[in-house]
Amino acid sequence: MAVLGSSSSCSVAVVGAVLVIVLVLNGAGLCNGGKTSAFVRKVEKTVDMPLDSDVFRVPPGYNAPQQVHITQGDRVGKGVIVSWVTPDEPGSSEVLYWSENSEHKQKAKGKVNRYKFYNYTSGYIHHCTINNLMYNTKYCYEVGIGQTVRQFWFTTPPEVGPDVPYTFGLIGDLGQSFDSNLTLTHYENNPQKGQTVLFVGDLCYADQYPNHDNVRWDTWGRFAERSVAYQPWIWTAGNHELDFAPELGENKPFKPFTNRYHTPYRASNSTAPFWYSIKRASAYIIVLSSYSAYGKYTPQYKWLEEELPKVNRSETPWLIVMMHSPWYNSYNYHYMEGETMRVMFEPWFVKYKVDVVFAGHVHAYERSERVSNIAYNIVNGMCIPVHDQSAPVYITIGDGGNLEGLATNMTEPQPKYSAYREVSFGHAMFDIKNRTHAYYNWHRNQDGYAVEADSMWFFNRIWHPVDDSTSV
Ligand SMILES: [Fe+2]
Repeated sequence: MAVLGSSSSCSVAVVGAVLVIVLVLNGAGLCNGGKTSAFVRKVEKTVDMPLDSDVFRVPPGYNAPQQVHITQGDRVGKGVIVSWVTPDEPGSSEVLYWSENSEHKQKAKGKVNRYKFYNYTSGYIHHCTINNLMYNTKYCYEVGIGQTVRQFWFTTPPEVGPDVPYTFGLIGDLGQSFDSNLTLTHYENNPQKGQTVLFVGDLCYADQYPNHDNVRWDTWGRFAERSVAYQPWIWTAGNHELDFAPELGENKPFKPFTNRYHTPYRASNSTAPFWYSIKRASAYIIVLSSYSAYGKYTPQYKWLEEELPKVNRSETPWLIVMMHSPWYNSYNYHYMEGETMRVMFEPWFVKYKVDVVFAGHVHAYERSERVSNIAYNIVNGMCIPVHDQSAPVYITIGDGGNLEGLATNMTEPQPKYSAYREVSFGHAMFDIKNRTHAYYNWHRNQDGYAVEADSMWFFNRIWHPVDDSTSV
């Protein structure tokens, strides 16, 4: 099994040479099932970190802001939503911010809210959007008042454009176990230095506790702060964000998630925070909701139908889609759960040449070949995925490390659409070099920070639409 381009210095010439071999071998049709990793991990139970763990520590000081997190706040990356919680009283919803080289502090005014869930009442949740920032600039920001001001920083992305290099981290189904902590640590220490996290859903798993104990939303917010206060995480809603619990009198889906995590959905004309799009550097990122209606005529369907033709690949060559439930998944967990959405949207993904689809939900890692399965109608029997140059690569990255443990059971034999699969926790990086090439790799937690377990050069579907499959 050859892995094309196993180091970031791989030259285009080498890529081209291997490409010829790939094309020849693929001429006979889809290659046989890909690689199931032989990596053997130590079998250990995945356990949540106890409430008194240092990663959950409450910052000192009366009413000190905690659970600080940021996400993109506008269409193009000049806006940032800053969110945090004050536990004792509302305090101030203002953010003070200034560019690194400036003395002049500016103010943005936010809003505060709280919510109840069964017998839990949240702290005071603040959301403040900062707009009209300069591109490619480091900003410091402060939240809190009096003795309990806390200071953080972030760097805005470069101006949107086709050849802007940018590095996205990929994390999914993180939870708050000891393994979650390892995943986050590995991401933070990865020398590739991710600039923004594309998070594919399932944040804290509070719903796994009695009465959906929302205290676990708070602990997760404090745990993740060390990364998400300093770089934006782009949120996807997973099934563990639903918190639909009629037995507790809680009938409104996504209640804790929508109160705590905002998205810039209005900037892309979406009508709900669960599906939206942003531009960031050279990427156009579409976030979809596996747990909101997507049938014909539904708001999400209509939005996506109008959204895809708007993508200008001359401006943002990389078209990335995020969702929670994977369409191509060969594990015996959540098998076929993504099938109905695939049936609805896959022809569009092929038509508009989506480069890559990231999903979570399955607690393991898998990367697909470029395949599509859109030929079927009720009489023709054509229901097998086929190799398709216009199709995305599908990557399941639900291996953040939550308390539910790993998905250890795979369908056998490995289907032909599956290029690489492995039952380990980890994270991935999508490192855009220019309009034609991006380098992708996946890192398991057992290895050193710089070690990659799976990798692939992506050739952009618009500007370099030839086969970039890694498995031969
Ligand atoms: Fe999930």
